[in-house]
Parts: sequence; C-alpha cells; structure tokens
Amino acid sequence: MHSAITTTAAQTKLLNCPAPAKLNLFLHITGRREDGYHLLQSVFQLIDRCDTLDFEIRDDGIIKRENEVAGVPEESDLVIRAARLLQRHAELKLGVNIRLHKRLPMGGGVGGGSSDAATTLMALNHLWQCNLDKNDLMQLGLQLGADVPFFIFGQNAFVEGIGEQMEAVTTPNQWFVVIEPGVHVPTPTIFSAKELTRNTKPVKITDFSNAAKVEWKNDLQAVACALHPTIADAINWLKQYEINQGDAKMTGSGSCVFCAFPNEDAATKILQQVPHHWTSWIAKALQQHPINLSNEFLG
Ligand code: C5P
Repeated sequence: MHSAITTTAAQTKLLNCPAPAKLNLFLHITGRREDGYHLLQSVFQLIDRCDTLDFEIRDDGIIKRENEVAGVPEESDLVIRAARLLQRHAELKLGVNIRLHKRLPMGGGVGGGSSDAATTLMALNHLWQCNLDKNDLMQLGLQLGADVPFFIFGQNAFVEGIGEQMEAVTTPNQWFVVIEPGVHVPTPTIFSAKELTRNTKPVKITDFSNAAKVEWKNDLQAVACALHPTIADAINWLKQYEINQGDAKMTGSGSCVFCAFPNEDAATKILQQVPHHWTSWIAKALQQHPINLSNEFLG
C-alpha cells in the first residue's frame, strides 16, 4: 500500500518516501512530570496506511513546501520545522523542496504529523548526506514532538517515559478496521483535562504474553469521548464485532478508533458495514518502518 522509496542513481537529488501511521494498542498514563508532560506506557504499532513525501534537493539553502495542505500552514508544518532543525544542526547550505501528500487524518491519533516529520529527518539525512545515526536523529526528533522518535526507531515498540524510551516488541500480524469519527482532537486539551486518570499501575514488558488484553485500555479515551460523543459511538459500533473483549478502542489522544482482526478478509467484511457518516479504512500491521527496509537512510 505504501509507495516505494525511489531514488535517482549516482547522485541522489530526488526522493519519494512513505510516512506510515501508528496505532496505540494500549496507552496507560502512569504519572505527570513537573513540566506538565505525562509519563506513559504504550505499545506503538506501525500500519501500512501512509502519507507520502517528495523531496528535491536545492543548493540555495531554501526550505520550501511546494503544495498547499488544508489545515496546515507551511510555517507551522512539522515537516518544515524538521527540515530547518536538521539544516541548523548540520550547519548546511543545502535546501529542499517538499511536497506532502496527506492521506492520514490530522488530530486523529495515528501520528501523521509526527511520522511526516520523522520521514523528513531520515530522508534529508540521506539527501543532504548528514550521516547522523539513528540515536542522533531520534534526539532531534524529540524536539519536534514526543511521538517523532518512535517513527525513526522504526520498529513496533513498548514505549515509556514521555514517549522517548522504547524497546522493540513483536506484535501479531493482524489487520485493523479504523474509523475516523470526523472530529479533530487537540492532544494538549486531552492531556490537560482534570478528569484524566494519571496513575494507572505500570506494566512490565514481560506482562505482554500474560496480561489479559482487556486491561490494555487507552487512558485518554474517556476524556476524548466526553468531549466528542461521536468517538464513543464509533467505539460502541466496533465493539459488536470484537473478537477479544476490549479490542475496540481509541488510538493516541484520538479521534480515530480501531479494532483488530486476524486477516484481511475479516477486516474487509466489517469495513463494508461501517455507517457511511464515518470515514473508515483497513490497514495491515507492519513489523518495520518501510524506510528501515533500506539501510541507506541512517548514518
Ligand atoms: O510532544 P507533542 O507535541 O506530541 O505533545 C503535544 C502535547 O501533548 C504536549 O504539549 C503536552 O501537553 C501533551 N503531552 C503530554 N505528555 C506526553 C505527550 C504529550 O502531556 N507524553
């Protein structure tokens, strides 16, 4: 489903790269730091639904987004901020034209903006020949947002801290039905709600094989559902098709909701029944970020 990574021969000037989405298979809030950021535990799952980005190197130092993206002014686009951050960090005189083909919802909890930024850092690391290694890029990514390092890490992960500590985990090769309830949920609003449960008991990585998945909740879900009842409606609709109790839930700070199915056929059958007032799609679990499949991108 994702586009191939295409590079020109010899001296690479052009790149076309995918930026995959993620789903949070669960999300527990275990505390709050003094700076307001929350400590969390989550399993981040890469899926094959992607934005795509085109990069064309330029030698005048200018960083420019070439296309309009509804709802994302160029100046505040995480993609542009990522390119500027790397350019400053590497003290480069090169620039880039970027086209961003948006397919992932914004304010949807599937990490679209963070993944776009991560892809930008990896692609420009390669195009500009910065040769930063994965850890350096992850550090830079963290300055752009708590979810960005995960997409550079590039494997499904058990994530802790504010989202920057991660350990690779193997997750089932399943398919997901994802519903976009049509509301944009600003992440800070959800995290700052006073009703938010902030002390869910931490789990250990060894619990994954044993813990009943029904305990794997998304602690942000209740707050988002109270703000936008359509999110609760979408979860309840999916719940009637759950194979394991507790599977249908929200991802990240919302608003997308999802449910896991064992294969494409099972997911397609449910997709065909989703009420038409919601946008919906299916996606396959990925084991690796598509950029990671090619070793050229990280120094
Ligand atoms: O880092 P990012 O820009 O994705 O986070 C957006 C907002 O979400 C932060 O400003 C903060 O209010 C909240 N947040 C949080 N704890 C996290 C991640 C995000 O409180 N671990």
